[in-house]
Amino acid sequence: MAVRILVGAAWGDEGKGKIVDFLSERADIVVRFQGGANAGHTVQIGDQEYILHLIPVGILRQDKACVIGNGTVIDPEALMEEIEMLGSHGIDVEGRLFISHNAHVIMPYHKLIDRVGEEQLQEEERIGTTGRGIGPAYADKAARKGIRIGDLHDRSVLREKLQRNIDEANRILDAIYQAETLDADRIIEEYMAFADRIGPFVTNTSEYLNDAIDADKEILFEGSQGTLLDVDHGTYPYVTSSNTTTGAACMGAGVGPTRIDEVIGVAKAYTTRVGNGPFPTEFPSRWGDEFRRMAGEFGATTGRPRRCGWFDAMVVRYAVMVNGIDRLALARLDTLDTLQTLRLCVGYRLNGEVVPHLPNDANVLRRCEPVYEEMEGWDRPTGHIRTWDGLPKEAQAYIERISELVKAKVDLVSVGSHRDATIFM
Ligand code: IMO
Ligand code: MG
Repeated sequence: MAVRILVGAAWGDEGKGKIVDFLSERADIVVRFQGGANAGHTVQIGDQEYILHLIPVGILRQDKACVIGNGTVIDPEALMEEIEMLGSHGIDVEGRLFISHNAHVIMPYHKLIDRVGEEQLQEEERIGTTGRGIGPAYADKAARKGIRIGDLHDRSVLREKLQRNIDEANRILDAIYQAETLDADRIIEEYMAFADRIGPFVTNTSEYLNDAIDADKEILFEGSQGTLLDVDHGTYPYVTSSNTTTGAACMGAGVGPTRIDEVIGVAKAYTTRVGNGPFPTEFPSRWGDEFRRMAGEFGATTGRPRRCGWFDAMVVRYAVMVNGIDRLALARLDTLDTLQTLRLCVGYRLNGEVVPHLPNDANVLRRCEPVYEEMEGWDRPTGHIRTWDGLPKEAQAYIERISELVKAKVDLVSVGSHRDATIFM
């Protein structure tokens, strides 16, 4: 049985939710290893659409176990909402959701500092975060001030740590941001109550996963965000605050790299980005607005309009390299059904010179001009197609050209949001 890591090959929202749902049919355990409720993973089952932010998508299949690993940052409020949302659809998480005792907790001050920090920047300086407290929570983790899930169980430790952190957060909110401050006692009470509710799910998930691998279970790691949002390998500072690339799966779950069998990347048949930062193949605004409406490209977490552009082979080839991607899944091919001509970005030019590799320095990338190759569109619906041979020859050519350019075989294509709208080669 295999251990697989799935990661986003661009700026997030690649369609990971749908692909994880499809692949999890064969998995025993699905694992989130980084990020928090900034993710928005959308899955369509029958008439029902589910958007998951924190719990792995595998939870939608009743016989799967799900792990939220130590590398994540957990907002207990968001977690409880998600568990309730699932419960209202008859999906019970008891006995099959496992949360790492070492994951960090997102506190109200993280969310507040995330939001007011962004508000106080000039428009062009803003990252455009999801406002979910992700950056400040990871900052506290690195500064060794964070509160971990395990701390929630020791009331005196929790009270002491929270009191100290809230006092400090209040000084920052007051002096730097002139923002409202927080009521320490109320937060302490609230989070002690969360501790009782989260308690049954908490365990040493590294032990749990390594035992499962020893027992030959099939495991799927569900990446969130995307390679270009990685805090090291992405378009810093326009990134999220965690590592989103494959190495993070080992670190964020406590599983060694020798136990990983395969890495799957997910890319969309075009490119999107939500939030600020360079995006070389972005459509000009009028056509971009039209495309967004046609494609329904609005954020699953914040509802913000996503920026849209042509497929960028420079970006995906870079993702193939830094993640060691073995196979690529291409999502939302059907969205391109009505276009007469398609463009693929095959390279960049900077000051008239060809750029051989993707520069992940935001200031350099911003100045890169895409070099396009034009391809004929297929101009007919593909949503009903279930086999490679059934695809129009122009669509086959488009996919094959992508495989060639990014140096990874595309072996799964999604042509719709439903589970069965999938072509597996
Ligand atoms: P999924 O898992 C797309 C973006 C935000 C912002 C930057 C930093 O659905 O692919 P943060 O709140 O993380 O500090 O914001 O990262 N971002 C995402 N963009 N998909 C996501 O998740 C994202 N999670 C964060 O828009 O630009
Ligand atoms: Mg998303």
